[in-house]
Amino acid sequence: MRIDILTLFPEMFDGPFRQSILKRAQEKGLVEINLYNIRDWSTNKHKRVDDYPFGGGAGMVMMIEPVVLCIEELRSVTDYDEIIYMSPDGTRLNQGIANHLSLKTNFLILCGHYKGIDERIRQYFITREISIGDYVLSGGEMAAMVLTDALVRLIPGVLNDETSALTDSFQDDLVSPPVYTRPYDFRGYKVPDILLSGNDKEITRWRHEQSLLRTRERRPELNSDQESPSGPEQ
Ligand code: ADE
Repeated sequence: MRIDILTLFPEMFDGPFRQSILKRAQEKGLVEINLYNIRDWSTNKHKRVDDYPFGGGAGMVMMIEPVVLCIEELRSVTDYDEIIYMSPDGTRLNQGIANHLSLKTNFLILCGHYKGIDERIRQYFITREISIGDYVLSGGEMAAMVLTDALVRLIPGVLNDETSALTDSFQDDLVSPPVYTRPYDFRGYKVPDILLSGNDKEITRWRHEQSLLRTRERRPELNSDQESPSGPEQ
C-alpha cells in the first residue's frame, strides 16, 4: 500500500508515524507513507497557499494552484485508487469503510486548513471525502492520521497475529468483550473464573455473550438484530 499525504504541516506526523504498528509496517515494507508540503508547490514569491474568499466573509481559503500542481506531479508517477479529502462534511469513517478501502493500493490524502479548500479542488480532483466524526478539527492532519492507522492495521502481515484485526471491535458490528491479565486477584478485584477454566468452548461462548451484552448497553444502534445471549428472541 502507498499513502501520499499532502499537508501544510508534515512535522505533525512525525510522532504517530514513527511509533509502534505504523513504524513496523513501514519497516517491513508493507506500506510506504510519504508526506508532501503543499507550500513547496506555491508559485507565489511569499510561498502563500491561502487567500481571502471571493464574496467576502471570515477566514482564509486554501488556493487551488499549489494543491493541483502537487496532485498533478504526484499523479504523473502514481496511479491513485483514491484521492481523499479529509473534511467534516465527508462520509463518516467506520470499520466497513476502512475494510473496503484497505483492499485498495494507492492513496493520496489531502489535509485542509483555514476555512476550507477552493471548491474546485473538491469538484475536479477529489474522489472521496472522509470525516472522522461530527466535530471540527483545526485541520485535516489528525483525521488523516486516524484514517492511515485504520487502513494500515488491516494490511495482511502488519499485525503479528493475523486474526487479531478480524476480532477487533466493529468487525462484526459488536464491541469487544472485556479482557484481563495477571494478577488474578488485585486487592480483591477478581478475574471472572470462566477465563481460568481452561474450557475453550465455554470461554468463546462467554466472550460472545459479553460482546452482545456490551453492544446492547453501550452501542445499541450497532447491532440490533443479532441473537441475544440466551438464544434467539421469540
Ligand atoms: N477536518 C476538520 N475536521 C475534520 C473531521 N471531523 N474529519 C475529517 N477531517 C476534518
